[in-house]
Amino acid sequence: MNEKNQIIEDLLWRHTTKKYDKARKIPQEDLNILFEAMRLSASSINSQPWKFVVIESDEAKERMNKTFAHKFQTNQPHVFDSSMIILFAYNPHYSRDDYAEVVDKGIKDKRTKPEKRESAFGGMFFAELNTDESGDTSAWTKAQTYLALGNTLHTLARLKIDSTPMEGIDTDLVNEEFKKELDGYQCDVALAIGYHHIEEDYNAKLPKSRREHKSIFVHI
Ligand SMILES: Cc1cc2nc3c(=O)[nH]c(=O)nc-3n(C[C@H](O)[C@H](O)[C@H](O)COP(=O)(O)O)c2cc1C
Repeated sequence: MNEKNQIIEDLLWRHTTKKYDKARKIPQEDLNILFEAMRLSASSINSQPWKFVVIESDEAKERMNKTFAHKFQTNQPHVFDSSMIILFAYNPHYSRDDYAEVVDKGIKDKRTKPEKRESAFGGMFFAELNTDESGDTSAWTKAQTYLALGNTLHTLARLKIDSTPMEGIDTDLVNEEFKKELDGYQCDVALAIGYHHIEEDYNAKLPKSRREHKSIFVHI
């Protein structure tokens, strides 16, 4: 494997940060690139069934801090030590109205001709395949949101910004506390971003470890 390749270098460089340097915050120009990269994430039928709640103000961080009252306290210090926390939320009831925003943006971006608007809704067939009797699309829309998370992790590595993906959040408390901002979306995973603490982030010093190629690939 050629480890000089930029993609491989990025992926070897990144690690899950266990302790942040409180003194360092992310410059706005890097945040602009990050948010744009997140917006450009791919998704099934271009559904983009996500919402990203960026917890950056002191007041919002206080609210996030409260959600660690009962569970996953190992992730709690990231609330104030990292630069910010991003909630990755998905739409649990993706509907034709939601897809209309995508279709109409496609027309605005000149990807779809206005007269083809109705046929552009053909993509909804795929969403319907992934909708249960009660209108629940969670399994499908949540999967799309994790694609955005993966894209975000790689983008952060390119920008040399550290991060901690966190399924270790109290989803009941997070979804209750940020109910207004989530506006019907569901958050099951969050991401802390910032810069790791040089002495105290033990994970920064550990070698990367992954399953062997032959164990995970089947070449036929
Ligand atoms: C979806 C997801 C959720 C994770 N949740 C947590 C978490 O709550 N706390 C934590 O410290 N690490 C969490 N991790 C980090 C993983 O343990 C880590 O990515 C894995 O061990 C590989 O290590 P690396 O990221 O340093 O390469 C999570 C990772 C992912 C992708």
